[in-house]
Amino acid sequence: MTTQAHATGRRAVKAVIPAAGLATRFLPATKAVPKELLPVVDRPVLQYIVEEAAAAGITDVLLVTGRGKTSMVDHFDRRPDVEARLEEKGDKARLAAVRRTSELADIYTCRQGEPLGLGHAVGVAASHIGDNAFAVLLGDEFVDEEQPLLPAMLELQARTGGIVLAFIEVAPEETGRYGIASVKPSEFGEDIVEVTGLVEKPSAAEAPSNLAVVGRYILPATIFEAINNTKPGSGGEIQLTDAMAQLLADGTPVHGIVYRGHRYDTGMPLGYLQAVVEIAVKRPDLGAEFGQWLSEFVAKQAKNAGGAQG
Ligand code: G1P
Repeated sequence: MTTQAHATGRRAVKAVIPAAGLATRFLPATKAVPKELLPVVDRPVLQYIVEEAAAAGITDVLLVTGRGKTSMVDHFDRRPDVEARLEEKGDKARLAAVRRTSELADIYTCRQGEPLGLGHAVGVAASHIGDNAFAVLLGDEFVDEEQPLLPAMLELQARTGGIVLAFIEVAPEETGRYGIASVKPSEFGEDIVEVTGLVEKPSAAEAPSNLAVVGRYILPATIFEAINNTKPGSGGEIQLTDAMAQLLADGTPVHGIVYRGHRYDTGMPLGYLQAVVEIAVKRPDLGAEFGQWLSEFVAKQAKNAGGAQG
């Protein structure tokens, strides 16, 4: 039977990327360009996310899109005209980079007709996913490729058959931006906790811990029924956190891995800029020159600020 609540042993092989949001934080840039396609150096954010999935062995990726966002799908399509031009010019490196986008994964799409919340967006993936566990990757964050998170999450989910989350530790003033968990130690080791409660975007006073849910989830297919039964919650939206809390209350095991690597959060202008700078500095082709310019620029700024003060 594959539909048991806690079916164990099989690693999830599909991912859902909810990407139907309006991205008001980046207007007017996102009037005509989906925020998921904003470039971090020379690759769109969404490509880093699909690469993260592919590196973990997930090559069936469903993009949940909305109006005006179909260019996201084009990014992963072939471009024979561009490829032919690069071939003529003998630009092998760019040719390989362009081809790679269409070879990373099998990309599927479906529409979330109305932006009714993250839980609702995941809910529209039900028929594509079927009965097996699957990953959810939020479309505006990704982790350092040298410190992957998904493989450990997928492995743990295959053992528990339940929900597997990932946490970062946040400061009290940040709890209102995240789902926050109450936890206890687990049998799986120091950095893996058992979740005893989940609350969406609590104030610092209401937060049960400093462990914030990041945008990577491995979920059993039973989440779809829970989403159907979930009423609008925080922000008037159908929240994935509330649907997960229901499964938890019904006895589904929920665990979280405390992630100690580097996470890029491109959902807001500041985090986006930080990601661009950090990744540019790490790039073998750009890093040395850009890093040199950056330190000179920062030194000049500091000197100017010092001069202005003194
Ligand atoms: C969503 C989730 C929240 C989670 C966050 C991670 O919130 O609802 O539980 O902590 O992503 O980035 P959003 O950022 O979409 O408001």
